[in-house]
Amino acid sequence: MQPIYLDYNATTPVDPVVAEAMQPYILQHYGNPSSTHAYGRAAREAVEGARTQVASLLGCSATEVVFTGGGSESNNTVLKGVAYTYRHKGQHIITSAIEHPAIINPCRFLEQQGVRVTYLPVDRTGMVDADEVRRALTPQTILISIMHANNEVGTLQPIADISRMAHAHGVLVHTDAAQSVGKIPTLVDELGVDFLSVAGHKVYAPKGIGALYMRAGVGLEPLIHGAGHESGRRAGTENVIFAVGLGKACEVAQADLPRYQRDVRQLRDLFWQELDKRFGDRVVLNGHAEQCLPNTLHINFRGVIGAELLEKLPELAASTGSACHAGEITLSSVLEAMQIPAELGRGAVRFSLGRYTARQDIEQAVALITRIF
Ligand SMILES: Cc1ncc(COP(=O)(O)O)c(C=O)c1O
Repeated sequence: MQPIYLDYNATTPVDPVVAEAMQPYILQHYGNPSSTHAYGRAAREAVEGARTQVASLLGCSATEVVFTGGGSESNNTVLKGVAYTYRHKGQHIITSAIEHPAIINPCRFLEQQGVRVTYLPVDRTGMVDADEVRRALTPQTILISIMHANNEVGTLQPIADISRMAHAHGVLVHTDAAQSVGKIPTLVDELGVDFLSVAGHKVYAPKGIGALYMRAGVGLEPLIHGAGHESGRRAGTENVIFAVGLGKACEVAQADLPRYQRDVRQLRDLFWQELDKRFGDRVVLNGHAEQCLPNTLHINFRGVIGAELLEKLPELAASTGSACHAGEITLSSVLEAMQIPAELGRGAVRFSLGRYTARQDIEQAVALITRIF
């Protein structure tokens, strides 16, 4: 028996429909999209078609979508690009303490270059307070970068409120939407952002492809200089095969969004109810009860260590929120920022459901956990 996969926030399998769409571009349509002959034109059409599919999911114009090598590259492009391009305007960036390393580490790098970075705290549910963002603003602030949904606990951030307030002060807004794209609506005009990062492998496309939404008219020095690909915003011959995959994945995600939000949420809720019924106060839900990704269930199992629990459950593929180094248990930076007490957070496990999770998977997972906890 294959382990039950409950780690969709780590990565998703490639959807067979996505794999099928990519197939002709592996062996048949191998032209360079910059070439003007028939081979090149076929590749160009494919890339531009894919760009339109991504744009449709984000509710933006295709010209505002840049293909990248993934969520990390999209994030780096924005942080380093804004810091460089707007350095004469100011040198202050606001972010949060619960961002993915693909935000935290470029910020740390920028700090070494003299940029000041404010890492905002979060409350016990893992949420940033929009008022705190406002209070952190200075005349030097050039960018606010707050994730749309947290990868560990799933808490959704008040991005629309933050954008409204930021724009009133002439400050650019970026959101890392790697975890929310395809799970909840991610329309850029509703969120009001200037930049939004997409990671292909969280939305049933392959690993190593992503996209960046850049609002029309907002100029940015690119991360990768070279020939003028992607309208001069990201050099390098386009990854035609993977761009086609990401485009198809976005099309499928858009069509599936209402069902996903309903059915996956229902299974996630069932999972929690069953655990709650069996274990009562031995299990504690982390994150926000409502403002949460529909697929994410983050639980502290009292009196155990998350990693040890999962070791005893090889039939389940999930993630833990604590790490063991030389006998010392350390909580993830997200749980620390949420001020989860160490004795609780040691038992943290993240279950993340997805497109292929069935009711039977959840029932089996509950039975397996019951047997050992
Ligand atoms: C919130 C968030 N941002 C960024 C990334 C990085 O994306 P990628 O792996 O495509 O570089 C991830 C992936 O784990 C993520 O969860």
